[in-house]
Amino acid sequence: MEKLLIKGGNRLCGEVTVSGAKNAAVAILPACLLVNDVCRIENLPDIKDVKLYLKILEELNAEVRYIDKNTVEINCTNVSSYVPRGDLTRRMRGSSYLMGALLGRFSCFSVDPPGGCDFGTRPIDQHIKAFEALGTDVDTSRGIINGKAEHLKGGHIFFDVVTVGATVNAMLAAACADGMTVIENAAKEPHIVDLANFLNNMGANIRGAGTDTIKIKGTKNLHGGTYPIIPDQIEAGTFMIAAAATRGDVVLRNVIPRHLEIISTKLIETGVKVSEGEDSVRVWVEDGTVFRRINFSAMPYPGFPTDMQPQLVTFLTTIEGTSTAREGVWENRFRYVNELKRMGANIRVEGKLAIIDGVKTLMGAHVKATDLRAGAAMIIAGLMAEGTTEITDIYHIDRGYENFEEKFVKIGGNIQRVQVVDDSGE
Ligand code: EPU
Repeated sequence: MEKLLIKGGNRLCGEVTVSGAKNAAVAILPACLLVNDVCRIENLPDIKDVKLYLKILEELNAEVRYIDKNTVEINCTNVSSYVPRGDLTRRMRGSSYLMGALLGRFSCFSVDPPGGCDFGTRPIDQHIKAFEALGTDVDTSRGIINGKAEHLKGGHIFFDVVTVGATVNAMLAAACADGMTVIENAAKEPHIVDLANFLNNMGANIRGAGTDTIKIKGTKNLHGGTYPIIPDQIEAGTFMIAAAATRGDVVLRNVIPRHLEIISTKLIETGVKVSEGEDSVRVWVEDGTVFRRINFSAMPYPGFPTDMQPQLVTFLTTIEGTSTAREGVWENRFRYVNELKRMGANIRVEGKLAIIDGVKTLMGAHVKATDLRAGAAMIIAGLMAEGTTEITDIYHIDRGYENFEEKFVKIGGNIQRVQVVDDSGE
């Protein structure tokens, strides 16, 4: 087991190159199952969730060839099974996309319920609704999700909630279904657009991704090609907030500034400076800045991302006055607040609202990463705090951020990864 040791107090200054987007990668990798040819994926983040996905594909008999650590070639021509290994798929959320991809390829799937971060209940009723609209019978009665379509055909899908996962699954299945599919109340996240661009690049016919209505004309004739994954909006946003929280000056390279607008807007509201280049963003704090308290709500794109909510709350813990954060996506995404309280933060959670009373400073403490983005928030808290912070359960962080602590160290963060000696006697 490993943990992170962080000595707080350093201003972060310098440049960070942002990696490819995790949530786009975990949608595009299963999409390769729809292609009987070589898909070359570039700007793939070197993270645990991606390695796990490649392993799942290999176990299904896909050929996976690493060109370098961020480029792979995947050939799914020889895949003949629609039953991925449950012990692997249960370890991540993005494995749910195997349902849509295998349905598109074989008109059937048999997949274990997915794992992933714990934010309360994470239903899949909308995924099932989409598959049924395309002519699929779905059975979840025996703990495994089985789907079978006699004739996978286009259909009309209206989502009752805006859901990234079900939108991805509907797109994957519809890309190879017979006829036209219309998805209404679709998610609009950058990774939805990236998946559509990937599939179109391979010969699919998908229009409207990034709007509420996506139209897909199914085709069986997808071909191979090369595709670079978009930069990670959440990694970029995490460094933007870390720069602000340490009163630093950081330039982020390899970003799409449009994807970061809402994060920039909230930071500017607090008094932080942000300027945009063509594919870069600079975030800095001027001497003598008096920060302002803010309120924000985490919402589906183009709203403030729920995956940035813990990081922004962490920054607000030392801004004078009362700020509020409303979680508008997940049932329970405030579990990390107890960890921040150990560091001296003054936060009260009332249902989906966190009320943050600014304190003078955070103090180093022993905390744990309760999930992936909560882990990123703990790193920011450690960098802000007086003294040393120890973060355990960092496997969550490794699932989703490439070379995370190395990137922080390069811009002045004092972070060390150390082995934990298990003295429990077990
Ligand atoms: N929902 C339903 N029924 C469904 C599906 C979703 O009610 O069938 C509800 C959920 O309970 C939730 C809301 O809809 O309240 C949104 O869920 P969504 O389906 O959009 O989430 P997801 O696809 O499971 C992805 C990301 C999450 C991110 C959310 C929201 C991936 C692999 N995961 O999850 O990312 O928080 O969208 O943007 O793309 C992370 O990267 O740390 C992460 C958790």
